[in-house]
Amino acid sequence: MSLAGKRILLVIAGGIAAYKSLDLIRRLRERGASVRPIMTRGAQEFVTPLAVGALSASHVYTELFSREDEQDVGHIRLARECDLVLVAPATADLMAKMANGLADDLASTVLLATDRPVLIAPAMNPKMWAHPATQRNFAVLQRDGIQAIGPMEGEMAESGERGRGRMAEPLDIVARVEDLLSGPKPLSGMKAIVTSGPTHEPIDPVRYIANRSSGKQGHAIAAALARLGADVTLVSGPVTIADPMGVKTLHVERADEMRDAVLSALPADIAVMVAAVADWRVATSAEQKIKKQPGEAPPPLELTENPDILKTVGHHAQRPRLVVGFAAETENVEENGKGKLERKGADLIVANDVSPETGIMGGDRNRVKLITRDGVEGWPDLSKEEVAERLALWIATQIGGTGA
Ligand code: C5P
Repeated sequence: MSLAGKRILLVIAGGIAAYKSLDLIRRLRERGASVRPIMTRGAQEFVTPLAVGALSASHVYTELFSREDEQDVGHIRLARECDLVLVAPATADLMAKMANGLADDLASTVLLATDRPVLIAPAMNPKMWAHPATQRNFAVLQRDGIQAIGPMEGEMAESGERGRGRMAEPLDIVARVEDLLSGPKPLSGMKAIVTSGPTHEPIDPVRYIANRSSGKQGHAIAAALARLGADVTLVSGPVTIADPMGVKTLHVERADEMRDAVLSALPADIAVMVAAVADWRVATSAEQKIKKQPGEAPPPLELTENPDILKTVGHHAQRPRLVVGFAAETENVEENGKGKLERKGADLIVANDVSPETGIMGGDRNRVKLITRDGVEGWPDLSKEEVAERLALWIATQIGGTGA
């Protein structure tokens, strides 16, 4: 994608991550964008206006009441003569000002005066990010329609502390800018529900029954649908991977919770059920930990069937227009997939051979077959991200959204 002809007003606030803004300017300009920088007083303590000016090939705006700057463009024009206002890094202080409508310097004034989309890339010490005041301000900004990327988990540049607070990487910020500035996408205006991960069915408060599932494939599909413009609700069982960006994630443990969350997200246009839902749960799970008694036989576990979420959705009165299921099989992949298509009321079954020698389970790659009523299409060995990308495009073609 390119940003040719796009005008970015880049607000650099005072944090150590400001050094990454220099790279960000280069990356934006490489893609054809023009960058007009505003620096707060704090930002100038970390990087010099000289460096920012040289890399952006633009005048650097720093003062609210500067005769020179005001004659040049003025803060109202600065705020409007752009396609996007990007705040990177967005410090806790600047976010607090934005959330409260303060305008006591050029950066905050422009942010209050603008009628353009605003994207912030927060960066700060993890304790500052986690502080209720910052979280409150962030929630307000989101409600005000401000877009955000990050902060990310990782090591802090200045203190070596770990935690959430790192600014998103310049290339990821550029990708989000491209996303925000590209026109309507094939799945714009569509709602999608994705399930991912395993479910945990309690035996007692400390033990559970589960399937092996990392959630990597389902999470990647949720992110890929969102990138195509869909409004995505991801219902995730217990996983150790992060919530995907740009997706609303609901966390559940058990199959019945997953079903309730999925049904509460209806109506939707698209459902992709990737979760490895446990087929059975313990009929009555123990309230207390079951004790091992010397000399006694192991406790019998009476199992009962879990709700089939895919089947419920596939036969629901509010059935999404496109219902996709997965089939993790270790044998007769095609045959079983075809049977599942009918039983579950799905339009597509993505079948994969998860026999242990394939390494698919928990791994980063996948080899799938697409089974529809029209036939079977085999895809080559791909990364789970590539499978997600292709599947999202396949869905967009089927559902024929705007611009597809
Ligand atoms: O029948 P099987 O479990 O092989 O079907 C797999 C497909 O059905 C997957 O898409 C899975 O997410 C979905 N499924 C479900 N609820 C269940 C069992 C499976 O949604 N209880």
